[in-house]
Amino acid sequence: MDTKIVRLGEGNTDEEALREAGKILKAGGLVAFPTETVYGLGGDALNPDSSRKIYAAKGRPSDNPLIVHLWRTEDLYLVAREVPESAIRLAEAFWPGPLTMILPKSDLVPKETTGGLDTVAVRLPSHPGARKMIEFAGGFVAAPSANLSGRPSPTSAKYVMEDMNGRIEMILDGGEVGIGLESTIIDLTVEPPQILRPGFITGEMLSEVLGKVENDATLFSVAGGQAPRAPGMKYRHYAPKGNLVIVQGEKENVVAYVNEKLRKARENGVRSGVIAASDTAAEYEGDVVKTIGDRRDEEVIARRLYGILREFDDENVEEMYSESFGDESRARGGLGQAIMNRLLKAAGHQVIHV
Ligand code: TXA
Ligand code: MG
Repeated sequence: MDTKIVRLGEGNTDEEALREAGKILKAGGLVAFPTETVYGLGGDALNPDSSRKIYAAKGRPSDNPLIVHLWRTEDLYLVAREVPESAIRLAEAFWPGPLTMILPKSDLVPKETTGGLDTVAVRLPSHPGARKMIEFAGGFVAAPSANLSGRPSPTSAKYVMEDMNGRIEMILDGGEVGIGLESTIIDLTVEPPQILRPGFITGEMLSEVLGKVENDATLFSVAGGQAPRAPGMKYRHYAPKGNLVIVQGEKENVVAYVNEKLRKARENGVRSGVIAASDTAAEYEGDVVKTIGDRRDEEVIARRLYGILREFDDENVEEMYSESFGDESRARGGLGQAIMNRLLKAAGHQVIHV
């Protein structure tokens, strides 16, 4: 298949391109598009064939449900069988934006889209191009992240092209995304509501609206072999090809420990890499050292993380070490939760304390 690639340009609202994308989606085709979090791989959420095509294009197991993207809040009542008061309050506070809610599904949404579940994940993105496209597509776009299953979610169109060229009808290029980590997922079918995937809308922010909010037990640990409640979180996701280990501790100890490992890697002819904050990056002696940003600027760290993991793959790095980020903000329910959740998954939960 020839994949048509269109740059959205200034403001990301190129009406003609978005109309064409909407038409492709209505006809059952697939379009990758930018959102404020990561690029999505869109198909008509109400068309079972489109959902099947999405799974095939990603190489994704079909028990892993898709998120239904809306362009206006009122459509929530069409895809959810019940809309609790809590969902209305969250929509008022955070939509359009990077928050996905799990609710009981209506009959309008086919089981193919929800991976056979009776619940549906719903989100209303704030990206203006994404919203227009969803409107032109008829209002309901199923979209997982636009990566091949197992690879980090794409934060720019060039990564979408790497994974999806030749597999889908169209890619809308909207440049680099703003947030860089997938939306927060909150399950409103349980009491208290549970965070299934932390994101830019933090636990702290959700608690302000909802009161008590719990974390899925598997967000930061393997939790005695328990399965995560969001089916997609159980897969070896976000994973670079090489082996990644997180090293926690006082700065000097971390640098000394990692440098020792890097020396050994070099002796053994193994290509090594480091993810470091800007204050320590110059102290590492790895083959590839990636500066993720100022350790106090968590929004920058979030935006850079997936790109760095992909760069390690491109540069064939086999053994990687990462500093730990946002530990203090993670403890109080800030953005550090999302950063460490993804980093821990990328590292297969290998953490060393020094
Ligand atoms: O930011 C985002 O959410 C991006 C952009 C494109 O909007 N999309 C995204 O989709 O990250 P995806 O498919 O890569 O991740 C969706 C996650 C998966 O872990 C899936 O298992 C979970 O949401 N999920 C979807 N429906 C669910 C449901 N009914 N119950 C529990 N988890 C669900
Ligand atoms: Mg994904």
